[in-house]
Order: sequence, then structure tokens, then C-alpha cells
Amino acid sequence: MEYRALGRTGIDVSVLGFGCGDVGGLIVKGTLAERKRAVTRAVELGVNYFDTASSYGSGVSEEHLGETLRELGLDVHVGTKVRLRPEDFGDIRGAVVRSLEASLRRLGRPSVDLVQFHNPIGPATAGTTLGVGEVLEEVLPALEDLTRQGKARFFGITANGDPEALHRVVGAGAIFTSQVFYNLLNPTAGGQAEGPFPGVDFKGLLPLAKRKRVGTIAVRALAGGALSGVRTKHPFASPSVSPIGSGPTYEDDVRAAEVFTKLVKDGFVRNLPEAAYRFIISHDAISTVLVGASTLEHLEQAAAAVFRGPLPAEALARVNELWKDLRG
Ligand SMILES: NC(=O)c1ccc[n+]([C@@H]2O[C@H](COP(=O)([O-])OP(=O)(O)OC[C@H]3O[C@@H](n4cnc5c(N)ncnc54)[C@H](OP(=O)(O)O)[C@@H]3O)[C@@H](O)[C@H]2O)c1
Repeated sequence: MEYRALGRTGIDVSVLGFGCGDVGGLIVKGTLAERKRAVTRAVELGVNYFDTASSYGSGVSEEHLGETLRELGLDVHVGTKVRLRPEDFGDIRGAVVRSLEASLRRLGRPSVDLVQFHNPIGPATAGTTLGVGEVLEEVLPALEDLTRQGKARFFGITANGDPEALHRVVGAGAIFTSQVFYNLLNPTAGGQAEGPFPGVDFKGLLPLAKRKRVGTIAVRALAGGALSGVRTKHPFASPSVSPIGSGPTYEDDVRAAEVFTKLVKDGFVRNLPEAAYRFIISHDAISTVLVGASTLEHLEQAAAAVFRGPLPAEALARVNELWKDLRG
């Protein structure tokens, strides 16, 4: 397993991380035995980062991950997230602290390596989106306080929302990490691909993150399953997935994903998930990409993909051609 610097945290993170979210669902819905098998195998493969959130399974993901790591006596890096409700916007600092303290109780840990803001960020507060001003003046100082209290080692955001607002937060240089939506369907965060692409134009957020030594965690590597080449959903998986950063619908993503099967036909990769994961780790500003597994096979396939390393130049050139087909 390759390890990469997680920004300026000093953590060398495995280039493949383990997502504990609802979409794959293995940690939320798996039995303790299934979870122990998956986490043991992940660590055997060299995975050292596990990504959860207070909202995953309405807290069950944190409970299950904490229980599984305790049962196995494993010491790995753990990140969780704070998602604020509109009714929390009147007391942002208090709500941030209360959220992480509740997460630590569910995880059964005194602290986490990473606490990440989970709400979309926009030019102004609206619905569940928080305004960039409040994020810079309220959320980040509250997250920083949590690191001073020893409840988290580092803090970060989820780069979802308005690109200008996201560039302001990453550009401010206070955060240590950012979850980034970057995949074959929407590569705009990479800053290399000529658009337009469906979804949000993240306008080269990754090179900015690199300049600011902000570690990046690639999420939705398979666009929620659309880039898996498999139409059926595992019982653990979310039956329906709303695109984030791509779309407009999951069906649109599945149709768009088909163009990349040519990479398999051309012999560059063995399957679509391999193309998806290797494309992401081909960007030097990516620290780790998360697998959202429903099964052990999903984990094995993701590991086999990153073990083959970044895509070679001729495969990346082919991807560029396929993007043109996609736009065509
Ligand atoms: N910060 C944020 O806002 C945010 C948002 C999204 C995700 N995340 C993090 O990123 C992690 C991964 O993202 P994600 O799970 O949402 O999306 P994803 O990785 O793009 O897709 C996961 C889906 O793909 C399918 N799949 C995975 N590997 C496969 C394989 N090898 N072959 C076939 N199908 C495969 C899974 O099972 P099925 O085929 O059974 O469906 C699952 O439903 C999450 O667990 C979470 O930790 C963070």
C-alpha cells in the first residue's frame, strides 16, 4: 500500500481509506463478525484511515466502528464529521462542540484524528448550507478549540457547495484537510480537464489545496456506484443514491459511466472500479481515496486497483478523449 502525506498534519495516510458511510453500508448494516472481517482485512491490506460521521446511520456508523476497533484492539486513524441543522446556526460554536462530544461517546474514544465540517458551504446561509463568513468566523475557530481541548488532532471541511466559497475557505489556509468530490464523471477539482462537465465546477480546488498543504480525501470515487459497472444494489447499500457534484440524476451518471468501459476494452484496466480509483490517485494533490464498500469484494477490488498505482500517461490521454465523447 502506498502512503501519502495528509497535508501538513504529519500523518502518512494509506492511499486507500475506508469509508463507513450509508451508501456502501457495510459498517452501518453489517453484523459485528462481518465488520470485524472487513476491518481486519482492510488493515492487512495496509489501510490506516477510517472515515465516519455523526449522520451515517444516524450515529450507528460511529457506534459500530468504535465497537469493531475496540474488539480488534486496532489503533488506526479515525475521522468523523459535524453536520449542523439550521436550528443550530444560532449557536454554531456550542453545536459544533456538542456534536463532536456525542460522536466521541458513540465511538467510545477520548479523541479522533480528524473532525470535519459536513455541511455544504455557500456565499450565504440558506437551508442546510452555511455561509462562508460563518464558516470562517464561527465553525473553524470552534473546530480549532476542539483540537486545543485534545478532542481532535486536526480539523477540516467537506468541499461541497459554491466553488468560490470553497476556494475562500481552502485558500485561507487554516484547515488541515478537505473531503473532495473528484472522479471520472466530474474531474473539475483537478484543474486539468477541459470542461464543461455535469455538476459543480470545482475550478481546480486540488492544486490550491496542495499549495496550502491541505490534505485531501477523495469521496464518491464511484459516483455512489454509477462507476461500478454493476446495476444491482447490495442489501447493505442505500437503495437510491443522490449524486453529489455530478448528475443531475443517478441514471445520468450510470449512462455517462458507460463511456469509460472503453478503458477496459482497450486493456488499460481490468474493470471500471479500477479505472475510477486509479484515475483519482493519478492526481498528486490527492492524499487518499475512500472505498465505500458493501462487501469484502468491493474492498479487495479497490485495494487491487490502488496497488496497480496511478494510470499511465497513455491511459490518461485516453480518458481525455473519452471526456470529449461524453460532451459530444
Ligand atoms: N463528506 C461528504 O459529504 C461525503 C459524501 C459522500 C461520501 N463520503 C465518504 O466517502 C465514502 C465513499 O463514498 P460513497 O460510498 O458515498 O460512494 P462511492 O464510493 O462512490 O460508491 C459506493 C457504492 O459503490 C458500490 N461499490 C463500491 N465498490 C464497488 C466495487 N468494487 N464494485 C461494484 N460496486 C462497488 C457500493 O455498493 P453497491 O453496488 O452495492 O451499491 C456502494 O453503494 C463514504 O463511505 C464516506 O466515508 C463523504
